[in-house]
Amino acid sequence: MELRALHPGAAYFYYPRPLCVVGVRDEAKGTSNFVPVAWATPLSSRPPLYGVCLSPKTYSHGLLVKAGEFTLSFLDFQDAPVVAKLGQLSGRNVDKVATLGLELAEGETIATPYLSRAYAAAECKLVERRSFGDQTLFVGEVLRVVAREGVFSEEGVLDLGRVSPVLYLGANRYLTVDRESQQLLGPEHS
Ligand SMILES: Cc1cc2nc3c(=O)[nH]c(=O)nc-3n(C[C@H](O)[C@H](O)[C@H](O)COP(=O)(O)O)c2cc1C
Repeated sequence: MELRALHPGAAYFYYPRPLCVVGVRDEAKGTSNFVPVAWATPLSSRPPLYGVCLSPKTYSHGLLVKAGEFTLSFLDFQDAPVVAKLGQLSGRNVDKVATLGLELAEGETIATPYLSRAYAAAECKLVERRSFGDQTLFVGEVLRVVAREGVFSEEGVLDLGRVSPVLYLGANRYLTVDRESQQLLGPEHS
């Protein structure tokens, strides 16, 4: 079928994407703020680097510049409503943790906590920051990763029988993936 040209800004052509929730310390208020980020990506395995894009308009942006560290929390699909709320509220006006009654777990290598309900979380030290258009890419070195017992196989692959990760499709649409949609297609399987 013939493909039709779309204006690059008119379609969410890069979705669906996994979502992570970035946690940042708010030193001035003595709290932490949490923001859902769809524009996030692993950048290197050795050293382990992970990048998150934040608009300078977000409150988290200024916090991250100051704090120099952040956490990543990966949530189950059942927590999609929490993710949506975190993206509707701003830490500039409300304490999201108190408002949403979120439980936090202390980081070990950094002072920033992550969300206790995460099936996996990472502690990151900010190593670089660079502006790209209307976003800033914050690059963190992953210092520590924690995961709920048994959610990753021995190969380090997420077990979709145990966890349904929350993904984003754009325009307030959330979805997940299940084991039935998974296919094993290595050379030994063809
Ligand atoms: C599903 C979802 C994904 C989002 N992804 C991003 C993102 O990648 N980068 C970004 O700057 N904002 C993103 N946002 C918007 C912020 O989460 C939103 O502006 C939030 O209110 C900012 O909170 P803060 O002001 O406390 O930092 C996303 C929102 C949602 C709901």
